[in-house]
Amino acid sequence: ESKRLAPTPPMGWMTWNFFADKIHEQDLREMADAMVASGMVEAGYNYLIIDDGWQGGRDNRNNIIADPKKFPSGIKALADYVHSKGIKLGIYSDAAQLTCAGYTGSLGFEEQDAKTFASWGIDYLKYDYCYAPKDSAIAVARYTKMGEALRKSGRDIVFGVCEWGQLQPWHWALNAGGQLWRSTFDVRDKWRNLDKRHPDQAGYGILDIVDINADLHAYAGPGRWNDADMLVVGLYGKPGPSGDLGGVGMNDMQYQSQMSLWSVMASPLTATNDVRNMNEATKRILLNKEVIAVNQDPLGKQAERKVKDDTWNVFVKPLQNGDMAVAILNRGDAAKNYSIDWANLGLNGKYEVRDLWEHKTVGKGKGWKGLVQPHETKLFRLKKI
Ligand code: GLA
Repeated sequence: ESKRLAPTPPMGWMTWNFFADKIHEQDLREMADAMVASGMVEAGYNYLIIDDGWQGGRDNRNNIIADPKKFPSGIKALADYVHSKGIKLGIYSDAAQLTCAGYTGSLGFEEQDAKTFASWGIDYLKYDYCYAPKDSAIAVARYTKMGEALRKSGRDIVFGVCEWGQLQPWHWALNAGGQLWRSTFDVRDKWRNLDKRHPDQAGYGILDIVDINADLHAYAGPGRWNDADMLVVGLYGKPGPSGDLGGVGMNDMQYQSQMSLWSVMASPLTATNDVRNMNEATKRILLNKEVIAVNQDPLGKQAERKVKDDTWNVFVKPLQNGDMAVAILNRGDAAKNYSIDWANLGLNGKYEVRDLWEHKTVGKGKGWKGLVQPHETKLFRLKKI
């Protein structure tokens, strides 16, 4: 009987939206140091995930190898280093010959690569689906192959399915061995996509992802999560070596909304900002322990979106101790008053309302009303009184 992996949504930091493939072991060591020094690890962000671009092809026995210019000490040494800091190491591959950025994929080498990853001390694999047929049966077969290879590898390795939701992985990724599956195309550092005709071409904004991921709540639970992709909190449109991958940038209110929404949706929380240089606003958002506790609640429920109109979205997430997390999102571009009776969300009786961003009680009774700023998401914890 193997233990359940990812009983709560995985949390960590990932290279992609900051570095793209311009990664180097020295930067990643610094990032690991900063994850500890900043309090990220203590707050629960305990995976450091190397995304695409680490690969240097295969050796003459077909073992996958790291690019020696990017990882002169090798991945095993990096794993030892991050493990010594209490951080787990993730890596990336693809269910085809090539990865999305054109590096070496794992198709046909699943068992060999899983063994290699295990021998390096890898704890998490993000497994992409570029250059692979848009066919569910083939996707299921390819992910199942890698899922079995990981299980046989002799190490607990969390398996992240990264198929962008096109083949509805929420129906099959769990059986293929996955603990999480991306539900949409790539996140970008922007609020929403204005071009609805080709939303995928420039990547998705926060609202685009919410509108897909929110409807998948029934598929989430302990060990099975809808992955809404990285938290772009703190990128401010200037990601770094990755160039324009970061998007146009957002303000702190919008970043705070992303954190609230990803938390109630029980999405994995995977930061991708420069942890070495975080301003106070970014720290306040990423390190809010009351908000993280909603995401990491052991009941493992993803919120249901109970109100859904052009301006207002209200999400309700039941928590283990009987409390309810309620998120109120103002999608509009103007500050507006909102008024809600909890009974309209199916919550009968009276509640004490704690604002998890203000860290204080903001009301008691059968409802709440107040001003919500443009693109703000209020995040409340309701306790029955
Ligand atoms: C895909 C994934 C991204 C990232 C890149 C790497 O686009 O969805 O998250 O891993 O590939 O090339």
